Amino acid sequence: MVDKVEGGTGSFVGRLSGKRIFLTGVTGFLGQVVFERLLADVPDARILLLVRSQTGSTSRDRVEYLFRKPAFDGLRERVGEPGLLALLDERVEVIDGDFSVGVPSLPGDIDVVIHSAATVSFDPPIDEAFQTNLFGAMNLYRGVTQSGSRPCLVHVSTAYVAGVAKGVVPEDTLDHRVDWRTEGDLALQARRDVEAQSRRPEMLDDFMDKATKEHSRAGPMTVAEDAEQRRKDWVAKRLTRYGRSRARSLGWPDVYTFTKAMGERAVEELAHEEELPLSIVRPSIIESSLLHPSPGWIDGFKMADPIIRAYGLGQIPEFPGIPEGIVDIIPVDMVVNAILVVAATPPEPRQPAYFHVSSGSRNPLRYYGLYRYVREYFEAHPLPEHGRGEHKVPEWSFPGNLSVERMIQRAEKLTDVAEQVVTHLPKSKKMRELVSRVDRDKARVDFVKRYSDLYGAYTEAEVIYTDDRMLELFGSLGADEQARFPFDSAMIDWKYYLQDVHCPAVTQGLRELSKRDRDKPVVKIHERDQPVVALFDMEGTIITSNVVESYVWTRMADLSPDEWPRELVSVFGRIPGYLQVDRRDRGDFLRTFFRRYEGASVEGVQRLIDGHVGEFMLQKASPAAIRRIREHRSAGHRTVLITAAAEIFVRPLAPLFDIVIGCELEERDGRYTGFMSSPPLVGEARAAWLRRYALQEGIDLKHSYAYADSYSDLPLLRAVGVPVAVSPDSALYRYARRRRWPIEPWAMSKGMPRVRFPRPAFR
Ligand SMILES: NC(=O)c1ccc[n+]([C@@H]2O[C@H](COP(=O)([O-])OP(=O)(O)OC[C@H]3O[C@@H](n4cnc5c(N)ncnc54)[C@H](OP(=O)(O)O)[C@@H]3O)[C@@H](O)[C@H]2O)c1
Repeated sequence: MVDKVEGGTGSFVGRLSGKRIFLTGVTGFLGQVVFERLLADVPDARILLLVRSQTGSTSRDRVEYLFRKPAFDGLRERVGEPGLLALLDERVEVIDGDFSVGVPSLPGDIDVVIHSAATVSFDPPIDEAFQTNLFGAMNLYRGVTQSGSRPCLVHVSTAYVAGVAKGVVPEDTLDHRVDWRTEGDLALQARRDVEAQSRRPEMLDDFMDKATKEHSRAGPMTVAEDAEQRRKDWVAKRLTRYGRSRARSLGWPDVYTFTKAMGERAVEELAHEEELPLSIVRPSIIESSLLHPSPGWIDGFKMADPIIRAYGLGQIPEFPGIPEGIVDIIPVDMVVNAILVVAATPPEPRQPAYFHVSSGSRNPLRYYGLYRYVREYFEAHPLPEHGRGEHKVPEWSFPGNLSVERMIQRAEKLTDVAEQVVTHLPKSKKMRELVSRVDRDKARVDFVKRYSDLYGAYTEAEVIYTDDRMLELFGSLGADEQARFPFDSAMIDWKYYLQDVHCPAVTQGLRELSKRDRDKPVVKIHERDQPVVALFDMEGTIITSNVVESYVWTRMADLSPDEWPRELVSVFGRIPGYLQVDRRDRGDFLRTFFRRYEGASVEGVQRLIDGHVGEFMLQKASPAAIRRIREHRSAGHRTVLITAAAEIFVRPLAPLFDIVIGCELEERDGRYTGFMSSPPLVGEARAAWLRRYALQEGIDLKHSYAYADSYSDLPLLRAVGVPVAVSPDSALYRYARRRRWPIEPWAMSKGMPRVRFPRPAFR
């Protein structure tokens, strides 16, 4: 069991003993250590948690999961896994709830509330930020008072509620000039306004036009789905912009700090009306722990870490910021310790207390110093570059924000041009390499742009958050508790903290990743009890030829060699037109093209295919495709060929498959009419066919396979559990990489026809 800590009423641990403490945010970065310390070091405290359940995990499951995380390593070692569960049963009550929506009924004997849950993203949609950071906090405290409890409130805020102010910011109430009720109501209304705006016909037409351009070949439902997704994305983006613009127009860098400031004001009013003691704790930028639960402990990546990692990977040539500006960082354990001592030291009702947990006032870390320590760290411990030595870190010259902005704009323009070029390149290994390179460059530029936008205000800040009250509180502790629960930021040695604690912690994952082989997704073929299909698209996947080529073979065979040039000119002259129709709608293209078969003799075409074209087709089939088809067959899978070509043309490949699905051409009096007997199976019609077939035959689609090369086959690929992009076009290549689908370059056989075509097929 947990050791009992010595402490009478004079010690803060003693003052918390026996209290019922209500915590929010324990699944988050800060909250989980507050929970862990209370459980481990305040043995008599009874803990009440508000945790929202998630699909597939109850709130209790989520707490049990926390016990398996590194923050609980120390306690788990001391009391064992069963001991932790016993602690949970004895001392913790978990309530399921989302305070943005409402708060379930609470017990009436809560002594302390530590509310750390919040939306901490800098750029959420404005209504979501208000819903959580303002209305949510109010719901929570009202829920507490309605239960009959009269607790002291510890409201976790942020030092940056002071906004873009320069100079010294004291630990005091903010100079509130903004009415939180009006801002909150209008933020919620913004959602309704923007939703309505997004449904205006001009907007919907625009979403449809863009979706059609990208997906028309896949089919109308895919277009509609994409148009709706574009609308939703537009709404989210617009609401994010509302938040950013409103915050900046009032003097806050982002909607996060704006809503946290509004939250403070609302909570002050509520505590005043209810005559509850209120302490507001304002940490600066919280980063990995200095000592507890272990040096360098961090959960996920916090504010500075994506930039530190990207810098170590050599990806940030410059970043905005004032070299002399203070970057106010504070280790998470200091914030936790401070919160616990504040919770044990409530002020008088109607006299709220404010505390900065920050470092800038007495132990400032300058932006240039941060850069220098991080750079030295990477020079001494460079990140390995997979198979190519080590990443070199760039030297920053701090040229001023305007120059950095111009650099970003130039890089953006260059990547846009490169993007245009690569998306129009034909399918090839080179094209895929170039797409990867352009995507990588684009991601880097986007990263620097996004983070400069988000953090500009923080790296340019010329502000000092005083922490005299916090220091006074620390001074009130006995020497023993000061040593066990330190939060005097003057004790931080920045060089040690950054080079020996923080940077190793946030780069550990990258180093481990580079040791492992890059785990490319691969196709695994297993036998299964339930029937499984392996579906293969033909053109571009199994063979290079397309419907135009198939036509040309048979047509040429039917003509004498001196007639070939005329026919070739006729077909190829129309190719630009065909391609245009094909890009818009595959079905239309096939309908237009198959009209050329009008009058061709059925028997003649069949003879040609069986005798000569078939041999040529088999020669052209990709050996990798044939091997893969055989593997599926030996695993007992049903193999299916699906093609836009007329079935007659794929007859030579039929023995490789259990089922062949192609176009049927209408015949009359032994000749083709130039029409199709049924609509062509292209785009989403293929997925619809597959779903119906699976239903009829009891096929397990989750374990089925589909192989295709074109973005228009997305609906088909998405219908199975194992989609494989084979020598994909640029759009499918990108999509497959994002989804981590296997990508296989199947080399095509380059066999050219050695055959002379003897029999007439056309009139
Ligand atoms: N991180 C920093 O650098 C920093 C700096 C200064 C101040 N702060 C303040 O410190 C506090 C904690 O920040 P953090 O970094 O620990 O955040 P975090 O890791 O994102 O955790 C947020 C927590 O809030 C919970 N939560 C959010 N909305 C909720 C809702 N509607 N109902 C119930 N629970 C909800 C989350 O639960 P789920 O797991 O269910 O999402 C999670 O447990 C915040 O108040 C923040 O403003 C943070």
